Amino acid sequence: MNNISIVEFIKQSPKAELHLHIEGTLEPEQMFSLAKRNNVQIPFKNIGEAKNAYNFSNLESFLKIYYEGAKVLLKEEDFFDLTWAYALKCKEDNIVHTEIFFDPQTHTNRGIDFDIVINGIYKALTKAEKEFGLSFKIIMCFLRHLNEQECFNILDQALAHKDKIFGVGLDSLEIGNPPKKFEKLFKKAAENNFITVAHAGEEGPPEYIWEALNLLNVKRIDHGVQCLKDEKLVEKLSKSQIPLTVCPLSNIKLGVFDKLNDHNLKKMLDKKLMVMVNSDDPAYFGGYLNQNLIETQAALNLSSEDIKTLLINSFKSSFLSEERKKVWINKI
Ligand code: HPA
Ligand code: ZN
Repeated sequence: MNNISIVEFIKQSPKAELHLHIEGTLEPEQMFSLAKRNNVQIPFKNIGEAKNAYNFSNLESFLKIYYEGAKVLLKEEDFFDLTWAYALKCKEDNIVHTEIFFDPQTHTNRGIDFDIVINGIYKALTKAEKEFGLSFKIIMCFLRHLNEQECFNILDQALAHKDKIFGVGLDSLEIGNPPKKFEKLFKKAAENNFITVAHAGEEGPPEYIWEALNLLNVKRIDHGVQCLKDEKLVEKLSKSQIPLTVCPLSNIKLGVFDKLNDHNLKKMLDKKLMVMVNSDDPAYFGGYLNQNLIETQAALNLSSEDIKTLLINSFKSSFLSEERKKVWINKI
């Protein structure tokens, strides 16, 4: 397969996306139109100025702008429109299954009702499922910079929406907020039959990945790219085949690696880790899923077999039924 046909193969194959923050799909154009519709002030004069501000040095500098942008989301229809726009991107990129994160505390702490957030997101995904067969799971993330009690409060509110929320995760500022801070919270979530995942080893040390595995009992690690610093951990991840939801363009934008050529995805593949590619916050990081795959393939000179493995892994690592996984994997 030459490079052109690898690109076509990437574009045409069915894919699952497993690491996507719905608030991170807020394109500057939509941010401006919602700001106008809701009469909300934003700290940018125009779209160009917003895009120029998307020049991050690390996770913390990104999060500041990301939480600022989310302030334009007020009503159920705003969350619907945001999610619908992402669903259309899925159709364009041949993403047939998506497992999205949302951050309710980003909104409830501004006085927005939990119900408004989840209902807008859920209605858009249900419409996409009906209209073009996009299957989905919704994962609620706790903001790890907040305290344990605030997170217990939001978990209580999520219980009323157990029919819509499949699992819980952990995001926001990693360093200084280790998984062990949330051991009791995740125990309660598991007792209420939420599956658990967590961001770990994006900027934080391998120790945080161990904690996510051992104390939070996660089924997947989000990012996890710091694992290669710990041989024992690599052995554990390779044996258990616990998935790592890698986000290459995000890692470059946030300075986890200097350049895409320096990314360790190929090394992870060679160590037989269960990795796949995801877009994280595509409106802020320069591309949706296909763009992530195409740029990473070129930068790391990934073979068509590598790409095939990544796409198959996206389904294997999903929370789809074994039967649905097989159906999609057979089409790759
Ligand atoms: N890391 C942590 N928290 C986040 C991210 C991320 O990449 N995106 C949105 N919230
Ligand atoms: Zn993320």
